Amino acid sequence: MTKKKILITGGAGFIGSHVVRLFVNKYPDYEIYNLDKLTYAGNLKNITDIEHNKNYTFIKADLVDANQIHSLFEQYEFTDVIHLAAESHVDRSITNPLDFVMTNVVGTVNLLNAAKASWKNNLDNHLFYHVSTDEVYGSLHDGGFFLETTPYDPQSPYSASKAASDHFVRAYHNTYKIKVVLSNCSNNYGPNQFPEKLIPLFINNIRNNKPLPVYGKGENVRDWLFVIDHARAIDDVFHKGKVGETYNIGGFNEWKNLDLIKVICKAMDKKLGRPEGESEKLITYVTDRAGHDLRYAIDANKIMNELGWKPSLQFEEGIEKTIDWYLANQEWMDEVTSGNYQTYYDKMYTNR
Ligand code: NAD
Ligand code: DAU
Repeated sequence: MTKKKILITGGAGFIGSHVVRLFVNKYPDYEIYNLDKLTYAGNLKNITDIEHNKNYTFIKADLVDANQIHSLFEQYEFTDVIHLAAESHVDRSITNPLDFVMTNVVGTVNLLNAAKASWKNNLDNHLFYHVSTDEVYGSLHDGGFFLETTPYDPQSPYSASKAASDHFVRAYHNTYKIKVVLSNCSNNYGPNQFPEKLIPLFINNIRNNKPLPVYGKGENVRDWLFVIDHARAIDDVFHKGKVGETYNIGGFNEWKNLDLIKVICKAMDKKLGRPEGESEKLITYVTDRAGHDLRYAIDANKIMNELGWKPSLQFEEGIEKTIDWYLANQEWMDEVTSGNYQTYYDKMYTNR
């Protein structure tokens, strides 16, 4: 059997870094190639612990550059792809939709084209795994869960771009017979998440006694999964998933934003030695996100029953670990919030 040379895209980002680490450590016989453009969200400090491993190579490249991606497939002869690179923040997609079209749609099609050209003589020996999101299914209003069969109904420029990329991946399977597998996961939390997303943003603001900007009334519901459990699911789908299939990933762990924020506030009061209730005083209601999806909730029975995956952590343990990580890694936080972060923050939250 030929040696696996897996191209993982977006491996300097939040989820990608956990996936790269898991594959590099768990599969010493695989060669792992991490391709990342290193946008504001990409940070090689997320993976310093594995950067010198024999089976790991970093490639700085932009998925939007079709020629560069084709050349890289010629040079390295990747056998498989796990595609995570994306523009990932909904608020940024509302300000700059075209960036999302370029990376998430054009970038994915460039990657599919390069894989198709490189694998054309033995399509059966290769797999293209596309990592997607539950947001493609739209917003739940009256109970129920997202199933793999739920019709797509994306509501934000971000989710529309991810939905388009999912469609292209399935179209390449149907039309060109590329072997593909897809997964759609709920909200992730854990170490190394860029502090534009709710949980690390609020941990950092509490620490610095800054307002906690709650969109609308804080009644929106998200379904949270610890990032390492998502990485474990990706491992299972890559190795055991059925070609052409989609797997929803989630931990049956729904939280109303305000309830989740109160849990974080309480834990932070304890960890920082502040009187109980102190951090909650920072809660500030701000103008709602445009087109804000009300509720996401994943039915993860298919991956649990067919691939035997289940989350390893309860939420209480996961959020505790997460807060501890951010408090212990203040240097990481200071670094990622230097540079353009303040400009982003002012634009997003001043006079909101
Ligand atoms: P992230 O924003 O933290 O990281 C994205 C990475 O992609 C960064 O390292 C960035 O440098 C890289 N990248 C961006 N544009 C690129 C380009 N043009 N070429 C090459 N690299 C580029 O994102 P994340 O939260 O880790 O999400 C990873 C994937 O998982 C995305 O596809 C996202 O849609 C999906 N997802 C995320 C969540 C979540 O809760 N964060 C949940 C479900 C699915
Ligand atoms: O569901 C999966 C998706 O989860 C992923 O595909 C996305 O990449 C990821 O960003 C995430 O999207 P959300 O929009 O749900 O995550 P975010 O952390 O931005 O927001 C979570 C909830 O908190 C949402 O209801 C909006 C709210 N929020 C967010 C921020 C940043 C606030 O109330 N205030 C804030 O400042």
